[in-house]
Amino acid sequence: MATIFNDYDTAAKWIAEAKQAVAFTGAGISVESGIPTFRGPDGLWSRYDPQVLDLGYFYAHPKDSWEVIREIFYDYMEKKPMPNAAHILLAQLEKDEIVKGIITQNIDGLHQKAGSRNVIQFHGTAQRLVCTQCRKKYDLRPGMLDTLPPLCESCGGLMKPDFIFFGEGIGPEEYQKSEELCKEADLLIIVGTTGEVMPASMIPYEARKAKVIEINPEPSRYTADKSDIFLQEKATVAAKELIRRLDNITPFHWMK
Ligand code: APR
Repeated sequence: MATIFNDYDTAAKWIAEAKQAVAFTGAGISVESGIPTFRGPDGLWSRYDPQVLDLGYFYAHPKDSWEVIREIFYDYMEKKPMPNAAHILLAQLEKDEIVKGIITQNIDGLHQKAGSRNVIQFHGTAQRLVCTQCRKKYDLRPGMLDTLPPLCESCGGLMKPDFIFFGEGIGPEEYQKSEELCKEADLLIIVGTTGEVMPASMIPYEARKAKVIEINPEPSRYTADKSDIFLQEKATVAAKELIRRLDNITPFHWMK
């Protein structure tokens, strides 16, 4: 099936009719919440060296690495980024029993803040730290990053953010739950990802039965060979266009 561009009517109809929709999201869904992407013109990797997320570099230079990690992934949190219309649409679709779960590559916690319940954080989360020695995990508390590198309160070991570094394996539970969700999906909604980072980028291909709607202002690796409808737009603009149509298709079901 050739990719159809910007057919919001059909996309909204597919969403309203879906019984097992799954969303797969990347950094692009959080751009309009003020969180930069990794790639692209002003992406993080054009300003910072990705080596700070290389596990070998991190262990060799924990303080230097943590100083950059705090600047990239924690300092922006002081602005308290809020979920945007795209996060909220997906949360509402879960409440309406259309979306069964979200597989996100993001570590910003915005899907949960929007009210989504079944969120698989494929790359982990910045909201927790983990001890590299005893593996104990701590929810991030104010002040924990005042002194770098943060050390485990239990064993004194070096702590890292509880998200995946380059060279680190994906949690087997996250992988398995993502595959299971996709295998059952009748609709896959891909939002804001280049599809360039393995193994996350392979997950959408597990959704063999699903029709695919992709939202991205730029084509990605999925657009030509996986997406059935490509909504070439920013996430919040496309979300509002879809919400407008969904309100007309299923007002009672939708407004519940
Ligand atoms: N709305 C939707 N998509 C957008 C928007 C927007 N407003 N702005 C940019 N995008 C798209 C870009 O076109 C691009 O396709 O978001 C995508 C961002 O791509 P990446 O920065 O590569 O983000 P992502 O695909 O999530 O990266 C995957 O790479 O560095 C690792 O662990 C990191 O999880 C991350 C992984």
